[in-house]
Amino acid sequence: MFSSEDVNLSLLRSRAFNQRWASVPEGVIPLTAADPDFPCAEPIREAISRYASDGYFSYGAPKGLLEFRQALSIDYIENKKVQYSPEKILPVDSAAFGIYLTCKSLLNPGDEAIVFDPVDFLFRHSVESVGGKAIPFAIPPGTDYVDFSTLEQYITPKTKMICLCNPLNPTGKVFTRVELIHLAEIAERHDLAILSDEIWSDIVFKPFQFTSLASIDQSIQNRTVTITGFSKSYGLAGLRIGAILTSNETYFKKIYSTSRHESTVHGSNVIGQIAAKTALNECRWWLINFIIHLQKMRDLCVSELNSINGFNCIAPQGCYVAFANITKTGMSSEAMHNYLLEEAKVAVVPGVKKWFGEGANGYIRLSFATSEQILTEALSRIKNSIK
Ligand SMILES: Cc1ncc(COP(=O)(O)O)c(C=O)c1O
Repeated sequence: MFSSEDVNLSLLRSRAFNQRWASVPEGVIPLTAADPDFPCAEPIREAISRYASDGYFSYGAPKGLLEFRQALSIDYIENKKVQYSPEKILPVDSAAFGIYLTCKSLLNPGDEAIVFDPVDFLFRHSVESVGGKAIPFAIPPGTDYVDFSTLEQYITPKTKMICLCNPLNPTGKVFTRVELIHLAEIAERHDLAILSDEIWSDIVFKPFQFTSLASIDQSIQNRTVTITGFSKSYGLAGLRIGAILTSNETYFKKIYSTSRHESTVHGSNVIGQIAAKTALNECRWWLINFIIHLQKMRDLCVSELNSINGFNCIAPQGCYVAFANITKTGMSSEAMHNYLLEEAKVAVVPGVKKWFGEGANGYIRLSFATSEQILTEALSRIKNSIK
């Protein structure tokens, strides 16, 4: 399922955008956006074909397909130890939109939200798009234990929300229960909402374990808006499907009315919901095998990166991205990105503010959700070019 024969490069070259095969020059291997090189699980393809063969693509329910919400509710109970009623799960057209919609619903212009640094650009982008101010909280790569008490110095009367990304893209940190309890106490003390982006929650490597913030207790669950998606675990990025889960009635009402699903201005497409429902109900075995493959690719990637002069990479605990420190090469992240593109014909994501915040300076990010053959080729090109 995850060998190079399974990677259809000619299709990827015409379909995989967002800095990947369809966006890079011929001959370049893109270890860029975190989007697997593998086709999705067979049951998902079959479910989409069955649905499509009926020929009806009528308007879906504004609150989303009940079977999808039920499947996600069960998944959260069984795998994340959190109970969400399907009534308070809102399918949205991507986790990215879920983050934006939550910011739009819970922040007013001028409000402040704490955003980790480094972290995926979507958090700062969403906070700022709704007129809020993103306040960076540094969690340097390799931090074993985050002392969240230092976060309190960034809280002002304008602070309304903390954006948690767990597991943390791009450093791959998986927050421990103890860290999350501490974060929850701070949110309680300052009466803050927490946006918990858990899109990476399935991609966790042994022996680390994912803890969903809302599983800590009912009180923190009530101030949490959880966001999930299907781009990472099941390779469904182009279907633009995700979901927002909360147990807080007030949050749900605000999010739902802000979503404009009722007016059909926005809405989650039915095919995406069919695919995501099938992923949850029928494709856990595929996910387990994907994680086994990823764990091997992680080890390969980290050990090869560490064998390159001037590179240093800590093994990620979760996420399928390696975040390598390249400061000892004497090059900046941007210069290294350009050099690797030109000399090694490998595209990586540079650790620049635009993508991850100031804290990513001196790093590059590489996705390893590909076959062993492609990854080996890309890493050997990088190694040879640095020599
Ligand atoms: C932390 C995080 N949240 C959200 C997303 C976006 O997910 P989606 O494709 O569902 O918009 C990504 C994609 O890289 C991500 O890393």
